[in-house]
Amino acid sequence: MALYDPSSLANLSEVRTTHIHLNWNISFDERKISGHVVLDLLTVAKVDKVVLDTSYLDVASASLDGQDLKFHVADRHPSLGSALTIELPQTVEQGTKLKVKIDYSTTEKCTAIQFLEPEQTLGKKFPYLFSQCQAIHARSFVPCQDSPGVKVTYSADVTSPLRVLMSALQTSQEDVAGGLKTYHFVQKTTMPSYLIAIAAGNLEGREIGPRSTVWCEPEMVEACAWEFKDTESFIATGEKLLTTYEWGRYDLLVLPPSFPYGGMENPCLTFVTPTIVTGDRSAVDVIAHEISHSWMGNLVTTGNWEHFWLNEGWTVFVERKILAYLHGELERQFSAIIGWKALKESVNLFGADSPATILKPDLSSGIDPDDYFSSIPYEKGFNLLYHIEKTVGGPAVFEPFMKAHVEQFASQSISTEQWKAFLYKYMEEHHGKETVDKLNTIDFDTWINGKGMPPVDPKFDTTLADQCYALATRWDEARNSDDLSGFAPSDIEKFTSTQKIVFLERLTDCEPLPHRLLAKMDELYKMTEIRNADVRFRWQQLCVMASYKPIYPHIVEFVTEQGRMKFVRPLYRLLYKAEGGAELAKETYLKHRKFYHPIASALIEKDIGLKE
Ligand code: BES
Ligand code: ZN
Repeated sequence: MALYDPSSLANLSEVRTTHIHLNWNISFDERKISGHVVLDLLTVAKVDKVVLDTSYLDVASASLDGQDLKFHVADRHPSLGSALTIELPQTVEQGTKLKVKIDYSTTEKCTAIQFLEPEQTLGKKFPYLFSQCQAIHARSFVPCQDSPGVKVTYSADVTSPLRVLMSALQTSQEDVAGGLKTYHFVQKTTMPSYLIAIAAGNLEGREIGPRSTVWCEPEMVEACAWEFKDTESFIATGEKLLTTYEWGRYDLLVLPPSFPYGGMENPCLTFVTPTIVTGDRSAVDVIAHEISHSWMGNLVTTGNWEHFWLNEGWTVFVERKILAYLHGELERQFSAIIGWKALKESVNLFGADSPATILKPDLSSGIDPDDYFSSIPYEKGFNLLYHIEKTVGGPAVFEPFMKAHVEQFASQSISTEQWKAFLYKYMEEHHGKETVDKLNTIDFDTWINGKGMPPVDPKFDTTLADQCYALATRWDEARNSDDLSGFAPSDIEKFTSTQKIVFLERLTDCEPLPHRLLAKMDELYKMTEIRNADVRFRWQQLCVMASYKPIYPHIVEFVTEQGRMKFVRPLYRLLYKAEGGAELAKETYLKHRKFYHPIASALIEKDIGLKE
């Protein structure tokens, strides 16, 4: 595909990176990474310069075969960062290989990394460093062509006082002066820049499967090993549905609580939030999701961030396939119902007429992909694939296509148009004109380019949700009654965490509940005490939507003990809107600002009116 990426400032149509070598020193005292990068470049046109993406980096020098090169860091684009232009000594022909070395260091402003003080960790004794590059933050820890359309291999030598892990295979390590160690890594499978990742801290590993180790601070290694024991069965199911797992190892890293996402599919080493260590394995679908990215996203990658749904929609689709294989079709339906609710919330938040609700949005005006992050690419994407599956004849027809899609596009970065063209080609070749006619009944243009909710009602099977809905209806109907004696703790005794979530979600769709009902529900079901983060989030959401003040201190507690954006952003927004909550929201954020990851900070500030 000709490279078009509105979210990169690099000269992608003139030069391609093939390999990135990192040579880094981590200084916890100075809170920075310094060193150099060597980029292996191949020119794809006649060129006299290399333009790279950077963001808040301190660039010291650039060189080619030991010869210093002139360089210039441009003024900052508000969301895309600063183009670094490196002048070549002379114009070179198309097809030339170049090795450009850049000496640089990160600064306090870099959004890809967070340095934590010992107090911000579980053990409280050692500092910690971790990165988060998706979507366009890799440029803020390495000057590079920061586009998912460019796939590279990478290697790294990292010197640090504490153990280092990366999204690659570790080849060796050795002691160096000053009590430091140098760790060596190689990633041999080509991948986009947003999948480069690093963590360093007091880390301990525990084997949980034939190709998997879970890493975390020693204090929680036991709990993590128990929580994630099903990892191998997810990988094996993925292999059955798709192709052999390519990446060698599948390790997990459980991060400190400020990690801003639920999970991040860094190759060989998925990063996850500690909020999914629930003690009941109720949130392991996040692991099934990240494993699914091993094929959808990491092998077959979105060409640019406009086609992000190809990563996430496909991944949710495979995640739910794995769920169905292991726990039955009803579980897939149940999960899809929860997804539909998340989709509705995102559409309502942006407004049904917002361009952010489009499956394949237009990012050409330099919009920050983080600002468009929502459930829309995930769930509209899932629903489009699910609708196609039903239309062409169900899993028997669609699952082989899913595998063919991976085989067709492995190691490539693709567009929505390429995906669709192959869908048609495959169906025509394998199932003939009749199936192509079925495909033609789908209004692809509305699905892909339309705003708001999808054009088709998926009609999921509600078997597992019905009990939750029935209980929610009883509470909703009790709003005008004085007699609440029909409710008892036994109502939810047999509910799984997921059923509790669906029960609470249903109620957030109703008018805010009267406070006496919320108080009664809490008394009977002990909702405020529940530690499962997803249930806790939904309960607090229900309460704050009704401006139920007794919940406010609990919200403050929850949003300051973990920084996962899925929970903290809606809670901050709702608290900010709730009666007597605006000041509390701002105060709480400002007091705890340092706790949050820079990506989360930037978005929360927009959520509560501290920033445009
Ligand atoms: N790749 C995403 C996380 C991401 C997306 C980070 C875009 C930055 C920009 C990851 O796979 C993901 O989707 N995580 C979800 C969990 C999942 C179970 C839906 C999350 O963090 O909530
Ligand atoms: Zn994902």
